[in-house]
Amino acid sequence: MLKNIRNTIAACATIVLATSFSSAQVANAADAANGEKLAQTCLGCHGAPGLRNPGPVYSIPMIGGQHAEYIISSLGAYKDKTRGHKTMQAQASNLSDENIADIAEFFSQMEGNSRPSLVSEAELRIGEKAAASCAACHGKTGDGAQSAFPKLAGQYKSYLTQALKDYRSGDRQNIIMSGQAASLSIGEIKALSAWFSSQDGALSAPQTTIFK
Ligand code: HEC
Ligand code: HEC
Repeated sequence: MLKNIRNTIAACATIVLATSFSSAQVANAADAANGEKLAQTCLGCHGAPGLRNPGPVYSIPMIGGQHAEYIISSLGAYKDKTRGHKTMQAQASNLSDENIADIAEFFSQMEGNSRPSLVSEAELRIGEKAAASCAACHGKTGDGAQSAFPKLAGQYKSYLTQALKDYRSGDRQNIIMSGQAASLSIGEIKALSAWFSSQDGALSAPQTTIFK
């Protein structure tokens, strides 16, 4: 009996090891060098600091240094059109899952270099307080210690504001964030965006060869 239990435990341990090994292999399989090649078009918008979406006007988000997991899920959402944005839907439409994994690997490996945005003391005070309810997932400063949740630290203020407004209005849907944003006032949205955008940059908008 005891031996059987031991055998079962050993078998389970083998399965666990085998599973974690194979997922590690999958992670390693993503090819950042191929991702860089595929990302040249993307860098036209995401590589240049401060480029803006034409309308509504907001800064095109930084994705350098972002978690690969989140980049993959965002591109998947544009591809299957559960996340709206015509340009990004078109950009994602022709990418295979492999391409997406490679691109995500390329961007996620960049070091954060964003400059904190300048915000008022008053906004910071309100923002810091409101951000307590975001900390469990995004981290107090939005540095994204947990890879399942996007990094917010150093992201453009106008983009964060737009994202929160979109969750609140239902234009962007996510089971967690729709609930989080539902009861935020516009003042709180602005203060939260001020808080996270002014934290030390975990994200970057790389200026690449094409901009040299
Ligand atoms: C013409 C400019 C443009 C190009 C080219 C472009 N993007 Fe985007 N991208 C945007 C804009 C604007 C948004 C924000 C859209 C929104 O509000 O959902 C965005 C959003 C994203 C997001 C989500 C970021 C976040 O924080 O949620 C990812 C990931 C992304 N783009 C990756 C890519 C990749 C990969 C490519 C190349 C295959 C690419 N983009 C090409 C403009 C562009
Ligand atoms: C229970 C976990 C959880 C909590 C708490 C939470 N978030 Fe999120 N947040 C998420 C997830 C998951 C996503 C990705 C959703 C998606 O794919 O659209 C996200 C996405 C976001 C985005 C979009 C980022 C981008 O790059 O597009 C912003 C902005 C954001 N959250 C702000 C906040 C703020 C502000 C709070 C607190 C008021 C908060 N979140 C609380 C889990 C959480």
